[in-house]
Parts: sequence; C-alpha cells; structure tokens
Amino acid sequence: MTTITNREIHLAQAPTGMPEPAHFSMVETQITPPADQILVKNLYMSVDPAMRPALSNGQTKVGAVMQGGAIGRVEQSANPDFPEGSYVIHRCGFREFHVTDGRDLRLVKTEGESLTTHLHVLGGTGLTAYGGLLVTGELKDNENVFVSAAAGAVGSVVCQIAKIKGCRVAASCGSDEKVAYLQDQLGVDYAFNYKTQSISKSLRAGLPEGIDVYFENVGGAHLDAACGQMRPLGRIPVCGMISAYNNKGARSEGVTTLSNMIYNRVTMKGFVVYEFDHLREQFLSDMRSWIADGRMQYSETIMDGIEQAPAALIGLLQGQNTGKMLVKLADDA
Ligand SMILES: NC(=O)c1ccc[n+]([C@@H]2O[C@H](COP(=O)([O-])OP(=O)(O)OC[C@H]3O[C@@H](n4cnc5c(N)ncnc54)[C@H](OP(=O)(O)O)[C@@H]3O)[C@@H](O)[C@H]2O)c1
Repeated sequence: MTTITNREIHLAQAPTGMPEPAHFSMVETQITPPADQILVKNLYMSVDPAMRPALSNGQTKVGAVMQGGAIGRVEQSANPDFPEGSYVIHRCGFREFHVTDGRDLRLVKTEGESLTTHLHVLGGTGLTAYGGLLVTGELKDNENVFVSAAAGAVGSVVCQIAKIKGCRVAASCGSDEKVAYLQDQLGVDYAFNYKTQSISKSLRAGLPEGIDVYFENVGGAHLDAACGQMRPLGRIPVCGMISAYNNKGARSEGVTTLSNMIYNRVTMKGFVVYEFDHLREQFLSDMRSWIADGRMQYSETIMDGIEQAPAALIGLLQGQNTGKMLVKLADDA
C-alpha cells in the first residue's frame, strides 16, 4: 500500500459577511488507501453559491474539510463498477484525493465532450436550469422570461433554454462585459447591469408586456422589482437568493410587491435540483443535442490549484465568474 500526500481546504473560522482568505486553511494529510477501497484523484471541483451559507449555519464545521462537487479519475479500485481509469462525480471536493467504498460515486460517461461540462451544463447546474425552468416554472413557448444572475452557470443555461423555446428573455448581471456576453453570444433580447441600472425600469424596457416567468437566482431588490411586474398566472421558480447568502441566517432584503401575487394569481415555488434526478436521461439527451447544434453555449472560469479554492469561492460571490466557476486540482495524467 502506497502513502500519498493530500492537500485539503478546511474552514478555519465561520465568516460573517463576505468571506476572506483567513477564514480558510490548507491542511496536508497522508493517505494510505486500504486495498478494498477506491482511490479517486480529483481533477476539477465545482464552486457553488450554496457553499457560503453552509460556512455560517453549522453545515460545514469549523476545523473540518469543506464539501463540494468534484470530478475525478479512479486511481485504485477493486470494485468492478468503478474500474481504474474511469471518471466519477462525488461530493468530496476541496481535497486532492478521495478514498471511498464507492457508495457516494456516480460514474461519468462522456460522449466526446470535455469532462468539466459534467460539473455544469451537463451536470448539476444544467439540470437545475432545465428542471427549474421547464418543470417548476412550467415554461410555455413564446413567453416573457426574466433571469437574474444570468451570466452565471445556472442563469446562462436558463436564458438559452428560454430562447430555444421561442421566449423573449430579459436578463440581469453585474457588469457591462456580462451584458455584452448575454446579448451578443447567448442571444438574450435585453440584458442590463443591475449595479448601474434601475432593475424596475430595465424590466419595463426589456419586457414591456410584463413577465410570465421570473427565474429567481438573487432575491431582495431583484424579487421586489420582478414580482411587481408579473403578468396574470405568472410563475416564479425560486432557485436561489445569492444576494442574501452573506447575511446572518441568509435573510434577504424585504419585498414590498407581494400583493401583485393576488391580483395576478402569481405562483412562487422553491425547488432543489434533486427533485429532477428522474429527468437526467432526457436532460442529457436534450442538452447534448442543443450543444451539438450550437444553440447551447457555455463558459467556464477556471482557477488553478487547490490553494485557489477559497479565492474561487470568494470570487464567485463577487461576480468574478462568467459561466461556471471551477477549480482545476490536477492534470488528467
Ligand atoms: N435550487 C437548487 O437546487 C440550486 C442548484 C444550484 C444553484 N442554485 C442557485 O442558483 C443561483 C446561481 O448559482 P450558480 O451556481 O449558477 O452561480 P453563478 O450564477 O455562476 O455565480 C453566482 C453569481 O451571482 C451573482 N451575484 C453575486 N452576488 C450578487 C448579488 N448581491 N446580487 C446579484 N447577483 C449577485 C454574481 O454575478 P454578477 O456579476 O451578475 O453579480 C455571480 O457570478 C444561486 O442562487 C444558487 O444558490 C440553486
């Protein structure tokens, strides 16, 4: 049995407000994987907004290694379900190696696409967008759709599915470069920078007939503006509320426009991606065909090395990513 040096990221101190590098520590461990276990070398890890509330609500313990989605290659295995050289997805990112009995692994079968796509457009964030928009949001062809955090991993997929369904799409994001990306590359009809433009005025300009579906990623002022402009029988699938995640208890800013839910019989419904596991085969088939015919584009922002994982999480919360935020942990060699 060989001993391996592994580096992993621990939570050093629970943050209040925006996390800082000092809230994290990098710890070196020695691993000697038992012969009956599977050794996975992590290649890429996913960086997700939900990691932030987990730092303050006790989900991630101070002094413990952090958790998160990762894709890796099986280096050692006596389990025929996960042969050496196969690729697997699991929830033990933030470390270079993962030792497991295999129960937490999902085999990844690529069809020529890059491995990293299975951590976003063909993975969890893609399925979040697909299920959240089509199932929870009950999207119909040619509706008026508003998407917040639209240049991010989930939002960018939502915008494009809505365009594929013939919808008019308005989208908000936090920089002029992202506005250009959404309009010029993803075909969004009307994008705006919420940091420099009024959200309400922008929505009236972009969707003058009102909103049928607001795909909610942000909360607070975005929800306040969108809720007031929902059309009769509109739907608000609530995917996330990133504007609240640095607040104690992830409490969002107040919303003053909820009475429009009565007047226009609007439905607001939260969801989690696990609800859509049964759609995975259909999702993969649709998504692969949309990527192949050029109607589904994706971007990645990749930081290099496990030591960059805290910076990647902080950067995600500050909007440094376009498309999916990832950390590369090792070469596939
Ligand atoms: N329900 C589920 O199962 C599920 C699964 C996955 C993700 N989610 C949720 O989906 C949302 C998007 O997740 P993602 O993984 O795709 O992340 P992402 O959109 O790729 O990255 C987060 C983005 O949020 C924006 N942002 C940060 N602070 C903000 C603020 N105060 N106001 C407005 N925008 C802000 C930043 O972009 P800007 O430059 O535009 O500010 C940043 O790039 C999150 O709310 C997440 O919690 C839910």
